[in-house]
Amino acid sequence: MDGNGRWAVSRGLPRVMGHRAGIKSVRAVVEAAREQGISYLTLYAFSVENWKRSPREVDTLMRLLSEYLRRELPNLMKNGIRLNPIGDLKGLPAGVRERLRRVVETTRPNEKMTLNLALNYGGRFEILQAARRVAAEVKAGKMKPSDLDEESFRRFLYTEDQPDPDLLIRTSGEHRISNFLLWQISYAELYLTPTLWPDFGKQDFFNALVEYQRRERRFGA
Ligand code: IPE
Ligand code: MG
Repeated sequence: MDGNGRWAVSRGLPRVMGHRAGIKSVRAVVEAAREQGISYLTLYAFSVENWKRSPREVDTLMRLLSEYLRRELPNLMKNGIRLNPIGDLKGLPAGVRERLRRVVETTRPNEKMTLNLALNYGGRFEILQAARRVAAEVKAGKMKPSDLDEESFRRFLYTEDQPDPDLLIRTSGEHRISNFLLWQISYAELYLTPTLWPDFGKQDFFNALVEYQRRERRFGA
């Protein structure tokens, strides 16, 4: 979800207003994905690198996140959506963690769609923490190095038993992955659009799906 800052600055507004405006795109895309029967949607909300932003901006992002979680819970319940935060959650403010815990608990029985919310997320960190846990299992004698293959390794990732993403959408005209789901996106179709995140709505999401349907996926075959 990229381009909030530029959206605001181009209107002579402070950057944080772009983040606020971006929430309505989050709502639209979650609803559109759910309508289309998509089982897993991952939103990259805050990366491990985003702490480098000004304290004021980080603080606003955390407050908006808390507000979103509080306001959105009834909608998640109504639409059968389970919230699954992914990332180094220990690094988040206690208030955010507590709210996440509550929403995760409440939405756990929902089965229509899993909404992965990437928070304090980094793809390299995800692979590293997986490698550390594998090493610990080997050291404890619970696993042999030769037991490790792609299937057994993926269970140590935040996305565990989920399928790999089919489609990766990046807004705001950037042509980068920026440390997002590095392991999981090996064969994802990329959809790069110049549209800034606060301008990205339901129709834009549908356009991405239509473009995805035109792609021929061969997985190297
Ligand atoms: C939102 O867009 C991404 C978040 C970290 C929430 P940006 O804040 O990166 O917007 P630009 O790239 O400065 O326009
Ligand atoms: Mg950006």
